[in-house]
Amino acid sequence: MLDEEMETEEELDEENPVPVGVKLGSTRTVVVQPKGNVVRTHEALTCLATYQDVLSEKRRAVYGEEAANEYPERVQFMLRSGLPEDDERAETAATFFDKFTSANGVSENSVVVYAIPTIDNEGGLTNLASVIEESGIGSQLIRSYPESLCGSIPALGGGLDAINRIFIAINMGSTNLEACAYRRGEQLSRFSTGSVTGNEVDRWIANNVEEETQGRVNIDQTTAREYKEEHGDLENFKPFTDIIQQPGGGTHEFTIERSVVDALDRYVNETVDEIANEFLPQLANRYIKIYKQTLEEPIVLTGGMACIPGLLEAFENRLSTELQHEVTVTAPEEPVTAAARGAQRIAEQFVEEETF
Ligand SMILES: Nc1ncnc2c1ncn2[C@@H]1O[C@H](COP(=O)(O)OP(=O)(O)OP(=O)(O)O)[C@@H](O)[C@H]1O
Ligand SMILES: [Mg+2]
Repeated sequence: MLDEEMETEEELDEENPVPVGVKLGSTRTVVVQPKGNVVRTHEALTCLATYQDVLSEKRRAVYGEEAANEYPERVQFMLRSGLPEDDERAETAATFFDKFTSANGVSENSVVVYAIPTIDNEGGLTNLASVIEESGIGSQLIRSYPESLCGSIPALGGGLDAINRIFIAINMGSTNLEACAYRRGEQLSRFSTGSVTGNEVDRWIANNVEEETQGRVNIDQTTAREYKEEHGDLENFKPFTDIIQQPGGGTHEFTIERSVVDALDRYVNETVDEIANEFLPQLANRYIKIYKQTLEEPIVLTGGMACIPGLLEAFENRLSTELQHEVTVTAPEEPVTAAARGAQRIAEQFVEEETF
């Protein structure tokens, strides 16, 4: 009798799907899932490199940091433009995602919620959906929600409080700057631009470095991104040194004073300009009451660029000055993983309410 009861409990346990949150981004992919009593976060660079096995002569693939570091000359960031643009990139993304989810033991018996960007690119979004759907995970349910809503969930209290609120969210990603007002989860006055982005900052940094070193140092996009992520700071910015190999042999050590901080400063100014002069007037025009109400609430910054120390404060001050109105700005802890963590909370709710 007791044995039987235990057996049924175990079976039930096995049948309970795992709530999984996913963010498949152009720079990084994040998967969040419970393991035992803790919720685990797995991260990898969204890239893939193939090589030929010297014994079997079969093509094999490595992904993430390993691919980027070991095969820098041919690593492919297949979502560079934000979404899988064509069949070939969708297929590479699928290979990447399969490898990443199986390496991290993501269960097929799961409810999967994934974050999607706010861009009008139906083909790309359909490709993204098929990458997730064909991966085999999420056999119980697969749903998508806007990335900035998912990212705001960990920033605005426990549970899914964010979904019951009215607020402005701004997503600072690698390929897009997105903004909208959320009214209980509904997106109002969606705005997005590809002209003020993390990737653009990397290009500015590379140009600044060339100028600052009088043409002696040329860095690639990846190095520029690493400088930004490691040394980018609008609060306690410090000069740093690096060494390059000279083409004719030998090494050259150089110091970077302003290249990174100037690019970040420009990023904040241009973001404030887009928000104050494009997005907010559009919102005010369409929903004047929501506009007034949301400016009294904290504005949530999401996306990887919100990681930069001091960026939140700089954005808050400059936006307040530009609007001649004191606004407050907040961000989730660890912006890089916030969207996947928020998505995972939504998945948890589906599992609890058995909506699958
Ligand atoms: N610790 C960090 N410090 C500074 N910048 C960071 C940090 N982590 C990530 N970033 C930057 O944030 C950007 C990535 O943000 P995010 O992961 O939100 O983008 P994404 O969703 O892939 O892009 P998009 O939505 O625009 O397609 C990159 O430019 C990256 O360099
Ligand atoms: Mg994004």
